[in-house]
Amino acid sequence: MNAYDTRRMQDILRPMGYTSVDEPDAADMVILNTCHIREKATDKVFSDLGRIRDHKLEMEKKGQQMVVAVAGCVAQAEGDVILSRAKHVDMVFGPQTYHELPEMLAKITGAYGSARIINTDFPVEQKFDYLPDENTSCGASAFLSIQEGCDKFCTFCVVPYTRGSEYSRDAAAILKEARQMVANGTKDITLLGQNVNAYHGTGTDGKTWGLGRLIRELAEIENLKRIRYSTSHPCDVQDDLIEAHRDVPQLMPHLHLPVQSGSNKILKAMNRKHTIEDYITTLEKFRTAQPDIQFSSDFIIGFPGETDDDFEDTYNLVQKIGFASAYSFKYSPRPGTPAANMTHLIREDIKDARLQRLQSLLFEQALSFNQSFIGHPVEVLFDTQQHKEGQLHGRTRYNTAVYAMGPSRLSGQIVDVIVESAGQMALHGAIRIESDI
Ligand code: 5AD
Ligand code: SF4
Repeated sequence: MNAYDTRRMQDILRPMGYTSVDEPDAADMVILNTCHIREKATDKVFSDLGRIRDHKLEMEKKGQQMVVAVAGCVAQAEGDVILSRAKHVDMVFGPQTYHELPEMLAKITGAYGSARIINTDFPVEQKFDYLPDENTSCGASAFLSIQEGCDKFCTFCVVPYTRGSEYSRDAAAILKEARQMVANGTKDITLLGQNVNAYHGTGTDGKTWGLGRLIRELAEIENLKRIRYSTSHPCDVQDDLIEAHRDVPQLMPHLHLPVQSGSNKILKAMNRKHTIEDYITTLEKFRTAQPDIQFSSDFIIGFPGETDDDFEDTYNLVQKIGFASAYSFKYSPRPGTPAANMTHLIREDIKDARLQRLQSLLFEQALSFNQSFIGHPVEVLFDTQQHKEGQLHGRTRYNTAVYAMGPSRLSGQIVDVIVESAGQMALHGAIRIESDI
């Protein structure tokens, strides 16, 4: 979602004469868009700010200005700390106020050096109503935010505090944005939300639409070839979403449905509001509707109170389900969350050992899923990213990265690639020569 927000900030700043550059060294402004979800991401903010300060000092030596802004969820949660610890930061604003960038910037550049801004409100008006229409290409595969915030209050998670309560955009605005993206060349849209399947926006008929209905409407857009969504909560899976996987060919057969832990005791302590049995039943429903579907998940290892047996439950669940890919993290306490006050913390060395064991199983599963494609053709949508000269980068229907040698005119095209080798993260293959490419 930060990638989406960053793109939208660029849309707001473009009419003011700003263009993005690859390096911060000679920029008029640097915006650090931050993530607060885990401790590691937050720590990175302060080290990045140190590097940016050096660039700003260099610019000042030359008599030039550099506005330094911190955006996103660390700004939201720790705005005061940032301003007091990092004196070179001029602006701090949260994820719900970036549509006010032009006003904030006018204040800063008007009285440069004296005014510092902190803007971490949750404004009553929604930022989406104030964002300009996109009129530039955002690539063959792109994100589109449809829902923000969360009301689930998992005990480990900062999202309900940093992004605010659950909000769904109107379907009309989403459809308009999607049409514009497709008109500019996008073929694969990932619908985003912290709890995306809790989507309940006003439809174009004035009724409330769930995610399944929204996906059906998006599938009517000509040239939108692929639809995905992320991230979902197991409790908010509605039948209309499962049915969309059965009926909508553009909806990709991949579902990221985080389970976090395989132990019912830990799920309860996390306030996940479902059991392992519920989770397995939900996956089975998806499999029945779309037999090709593959699952991915997030896992938190070493949540307070996690015993060896609880961890074994997680390990066994992974063995039983078989995930195409997964993200796994050591638990880190986040300020202001209920779990941060829990006792029975798990020692770091135990967390490390458990994480390593789980990750080797997950890596094995990802590798064997990817290897199952060797010798077969897969449909790849190539984007504009290039790693080596002449090498194209794209994604399969399962969102797995693929590299293949080919001409740049295939960027933005869906092409069959015969898979020759597979790693845990990516496939390598050869483009099948067809008369029409
Ligand atoms: N510690 C470790 N991992 C966390 N996540 C969220 N909060 C924490 C935390 N405090 C993980 C969850 C979530 C993913 C986005 O980040 O697995 O699904
Ligand atoms: Fe955080 Fe997801 Fe739980 Fe919401 S559902 S509190 S975003 S982990």
